[in-house]
Amino acid sequence: MPRSLRACCAGRRSDGWDMQVADPDALTTSGGTVWFTGLSGAGKTTVAEALHDLLLEHGLGSYLLDGDALRGGLNADLGFDEIDRMENVRRLGEVAILLARVGQLSIVSAISPYAAGRKAVRERHLEMAVTFVEVHVATPLEVCEARDPKGLYARARRGELLSFTGISHPYEPPESPELSLSTEASPEQSALEVFAAMRTAALFG
Ligand code: ADX
Repeated sequence: MPRSLRACCAGRRSDGWDMQVADPDALTTSGGTVWFTGLSGAGKTTVAEALHDLLLEHGLGSYLLDGDALRGGLNADLGFDEIDRMENVRRLGEVAILLARVGQLSIVSAISPYAAGRKAVRERHLEMAVTFVEVHVATPLEVCEARDPKGLYARARRGELLSFTGISHPYEPPESPELSLSTEASPEQSALEVFAAMRTAALFG
């Protein structure tokens, strides 16, 4: 494929999918996945969006696969028990692999609470020869709960929301992610860290 077609800059549409425009001076990628995991309110989507914009500045289009957003469509049949969350994560991983197979970068943002679920996704990527970079957005529960942007922690504490991650449902932090982001950094600083980790993993050149 000509470089001018592989190296794209993209504009994010309101539905999260991209339109692509050729840019001959851009970086190139052969596809792969950056996977953000962390508690609700940790800042996964905020950093994912900052990363998307940073990649665009370098001429790289990417797809944002947001767990919360895709629960409105592809995963609308899934709830929040263990089986459904495992399936949610499996599907997000499979979509990311499909996109990588056509040379696209995916940025996945999902709580993905189980170590086993994330391990399975990592192994599937390995099996399909797709690069996988796991990023733990390691914002502590107290901070997420104090932020409570959607009021969900308060509802969970009142017992109105069952199986809520961190309150009445487990979150198993990754033991050896490619990168762990601290709470102190700004979304833009965090995006730069992820960008560097992507470069280390040879996700683009
Ligand atoms: S995951 O656990 O299956 O990976 P996912 O990232 O798709 O979760 O969706 C999490 C989002 O769903 C949260 O950010 C929150 O807005 C919403 N949500 C609704 N109910 C719950 C719940 N019981 N636990 C966690 N998140 C919930």
